[in-house]
Amino acid sequence: MTDNMAERLDALRRAIDYHAHRYYVLDDPEISDAEYDALWRELVALEAAHPELVTPGSPTQRVPGAPAEGFAKVRHAAPILSLGNAFDPDGLTAWRDRFMRLLPEADRAAVAYVVEPKIDGLSVVLTYENGELTLGATRGDGEVGEDITANLRTLRSVPRRIPASRESAVRAPARIVVRGEVYAPVADFERFNAQQQESGVRTYANPRNFAAGSLRQLDPRITATRPLRLWLYQIVDFQDARAIRSQWEALQYLRDLGFPVERRIRRFTDFDEMAAYVVEWGQTDRRSLPYEADGLVIKIDDFAMQARLGYVGKDPRWAVAYKYPAEEAVTRLIDIRVNVGRTGTLNPYAVLEPVQVGGVTVSQATLHNEDYVKELDIRPGDMVAVKRAGEVIPQVLRALKDLRTGAEQPWEMPKTCPACGQPVERAPGEAATYCVNSECPAQLVRGIEHFVSRGAMDIEGFGIRQAELLTQLGFIRSLADVYYLDADKLLELEGYGDKRVRNLMAAIEESKARGPARLLTAVGIRGVGEIVAEQLVDHYGSIDALMDAPLAELQALSGIGPVLAQNIYDWFQKQPNRRLIERFKAAGVQTAASRGTGDGPATLAGLTFVITGTLPNLSRDQAKDLIKAHGGKVTDSVSKNTSYLVAGEAAGSKLTKAQQLGVPVIDEARLREMLAI
Ligand code: IVH
Repeated sequence: MTDNMAERLDALRRAIDYHAHRYYVLDDPEISDAEYDALWRELVALEAAHPELVTPGSPTQRVPGAPAEGFAKVRHAAPILSLGNAFDPDGLTAWRDRFMRLLPEADRAAVAYVVEPKIDGLSVVLTYENGELTLGATRGDGEVGEDITANLRTLRSVPRRIPASRESAVRAPARIVVRGEVYAPVADFERFNAQQQESGVRTYANPRNFAAGSLRQLDPRITATRPLRLWLYQIVDFQDARAIRSQWEALQYLRDLGFPVERRIRRFTDFDEMAAYVVEWGQTDRRSLPYEADGLVIKIDDFAMQARLGYVGKDPRWAVAYKYPAEEAVTRLIDIRVNVGRTGTLNPYAVLEPVQVGGVTVSQATLHNEDYVKELDIRPGDMVAVKRAGEVIPQVLRALKDLRTGAEQPWEMPKTCPACGQPVERAPGEAATYCVNSECPAQLVRGIEHFVSRGAMDIEGFGIRQAELLTQLGFIRSLADVYYLDADKLLELEGYGDKRVRNLMAAIEESKARGPARLLTAVGIRGVGEIVAEQLVDHYGSIDALMDAPLAELQALSGIGPVLAQNIYDWFQKQPNRRLIERFKAAGVQTAASRGTGDGPATLAGLTFVITGTLPNLSRDQAKDLIKAHGGKVTDSVSKNTSYLVAGEAAGSKLTKAQQLGVPVIDEARLREMLAI
């Protein structure tokens, strides 16, 4: 029995490692997120039932450890070097001439070059002994770095064991020290920053600072929430029977071990061809990368030649960084203005004299928050450096203070909201200034935009334009007014013909049945997204019940932290918010979970089911929907609160657990009887 269990655990861990590798390292998943989650949940449940079978290498043990007091210093096995630079084709040729002189005649014609993106992140050094990750460190000064193993372990693209996939043909070396770069994909970074800004928390200036800041958190649980990735480009130290003779071979070997290695790399045997590629790349591929790269690194492929060439100071003679001019431009900052976010945050932005940066015209750029403007002392009228990289929203980097006329005055955050004129507030310890007027029109427009959006009430034909127009006209003064629009008044508006109004009204009507979880997401309580909303509705069944939940009860819900519980509680304590919910109800918006969906009587009300294995006729989702439609609840793991386990073929650990706990086990036929279908 335990043997079977150990086998199942092993199979699950293998499958999870394999699929995580496909997803995070190869960017090429084979299964859906839902399937992956199912494997993961099964592993978690099995390990919970058999703690004695948990191994340190299990993917569940990637969970972050406890916060550290500080980082220990570690001496690197070999110096972690830096690179010399070239900034144009002449610089590249000069580099070649320098090393060619030092190579014997016979080698000169045989030089091959490996060209890799120079990714802009934080350099890290990982040590694996007998296949296990034993140390992860920052580069530090090249000799001594900091031990950030606990943080690096939380990154999914950092294998904790190599080879990462057990199907790999390569065996783990006795010891290998590798070097790479931890970075944040630009899109993930921007998403993260936008969320931070909405919540009034400090934003990061660029993906590099973000990666560095995230890796240097003392609490690995914070690092674990950050969208960081790794890719490797160097073997620093290696102890194994096999020999690796070149950079190209090294990268392939690292890939075989299951490390993430960039595929956008090239090998050239001809210098001129390589140089042409390098120049062209700056205009083309560089701009379409999902991460920031400030150049390319060109390395002599052959390790014997590398060894012969050696170093000058900290820079190897056998490699050079080709750096492109930063995609920066200088222009005049005409004005600093402020826009108001959905949660009332005041976000300063720059109005610029239009300028070309990285191939596009930029006339606005972000200034993040008040502190950013103050710390950099950016003033309206200044000449400023503006940067745009990849898809990053353009940003003002600095003011060129030498060019000041003396007339430029320091900027102050407005004391009143630019949209509603009410006083603004900045809470101590928060980076954001807020407009706290719940009736502020700018917040309302953003709030409506969110309310009608896809993941919320999903009202087709309703977007920011409509939100702006209808608030300006005073047709909408609160979110609930969306359900009290007068079709006749809409028909009087320009561009609002019969058909358009009819469609809009129908879409609004249809949205009333989206259910309480969507409504909860839509009203925009800070921290309450789809998942939390569903969890709350699952627990309380209706917004009415949630509205009266005591704070202590909310705090006790699993997965809801104290800050979130407080936010939810505070939101429902406010009279205008309670009135809002009442008005939704009066308009016929569904605020309670349906117990039975009309086609099924609520025969399963109060019962909790878990489904496992393959049922003969129904898919799991179908069974789940049917149970829910009849008022029952479906959860993922068997506990003493489970009323029935519905088991199909190849039911695994859940069946064992149910039997242990004495939970009744039924098959599909019995379920159908209960559903009377
Ligand atoms: S090779 C001796 N390759 O750029 C080998 N470095 O300016 C030196 N970097 O500190 C490093 N991508 O953090 C190398 N493909 C790449 C790189 C790379 C980014 C960083 C690395 C290094 C810095 C040097």
